[in-house]
Amino acid sequence: MKKKVTKAIFPVAGLGTRFLPATKSVPKEIMTLVDRPLIQYAIDEARAAGIEDFIFVTSRGKTALEDYFDLAPDLEAALEGAGKTELLDILRTTNMDSGAIAYIRQHKPLGLGHAVSCASKLIGNEPFAVILPDDVIAADKPCLQQMVEAYEETGGAMVAAMEVAPEKTSSYGILDVKGGDGPVVSVNRMVEKPKQGTAPSNLAVIGRYILTPHVMQNFAHITKGAGGEVQLTDAIAAEISQGRDVFGFRFDGQRFDCGSKAGFLQATVAFALARDELRDDLYGYLTEMVSVDKAAQ
Ligand code: G1P
Repeated sequence: MKKKVTKAIFPVAGLGTRFLPATKSVPKEIMTLVDRPLIQYAIDEARAAGIEDFIFVTSRGKTALEDYFDLAPDLEAALEGAGKTELLDILRTTNMDSGAIAYIRQHKPLGLGHAVSCASKLIGNEPFAVILPDDVIAADKPCLQQMVEAYEETGGAMVAAMEVAPEKTSSYGILDVKGGDGPVVSVNRMVEKPKQGTAPSNLAVIGRYILTPHVMQNFAHITKGAGGEVQLTDAIAAEISQGRDVFGFRFDGQRFDCGSKAGFLQATVAFALARDELRDDLYGYLTEMVSVDKAAQ
C-alpha cells in the first residue's frame, strides 16, 4: 500500500530580489495578496491535502516567517476581550501545533534542488510534497489535494503541469510526455529551463510536487544543472533514467506567478474580486479605469 503524503517542504530561502526594496526587510513570502501572506495560501492548500508536517527551508533574514506562525497571546486576548470573534478565527488560521512545523536553514543559495535536499533527514523514508509559495493557484479543489488523489492511483513521482506560451518555456522545467490530453500524463523526459527554441514541448512544471524518498536519494549523485544550480527537475528526471515512473498532472485551476510583479498584481486583483466585501467597489474602479484608458486611445 502507498504511504500517505503527510509531509511538505516549503522552500522559502530565496532573497526575493525582484521585489526590492520591499524584500530588504520583509520576506517575499510575507507579502500579502489582499490581506493574507503568500505563505498562508500555501499552508492552507497543504492542510487541505492532508499535510501534517510542515518543513520550511529558510535562510538568514526570514525570522518574520517564524514569527508569523507563532502564537500571539496578547493579540488573541485583546481580540477576545473586545468580542471580535471573527478576527480571532482569522488570526487562529495562522497557528501551528508545536512540533508540526520545522525550520531548516539553507546556508548557501545553491538552487531549488539543494534547498529541498536540506530537508532530507526530516523526510526519511516517506513520500513528500513540495510547494513553491510563489506559484499561487486558485482552484475549487486545492491543487495539491487534486494531486494527492491522483497520486493515490498512480504512485511514482508527480509534478503539477500547465501549458505556457512557447516564448516562456525557458523560464520553467519543461516536460516531454506521452499520454494525451488527460490530466495525468507519463513523463519521458524533463529539462530545466531549456534554451529558447530547444524545449521539447510547452508543458511546464508548476510549483507543486509529490515526490518519493528515492528522489531525495538522487541528490547524492546529481551535479549542478541549469544556471549553475542544483535543480529539483534534475533529481526527478533521474528517476526516469532509472526506470521509475514520473507523472505530469494538469491541474484544474488558475495559476498566478507571484514571483513576478505582474503576476502578483494579477493575483491581487483576482483574489480581491473573489471577496464579497471588495468585489463591487473594485470592479467599478477597474471598469472605470479601462473605459478612461479606451477613451484616451
Ligand atoms: C522553479 C523550478 C522550475 C519550475 C518553476 C515553476 O523555477 O525550477 O522547474 O517550472 O519553479 O514556478 P524558478 O521559478 O524557481 O526559477
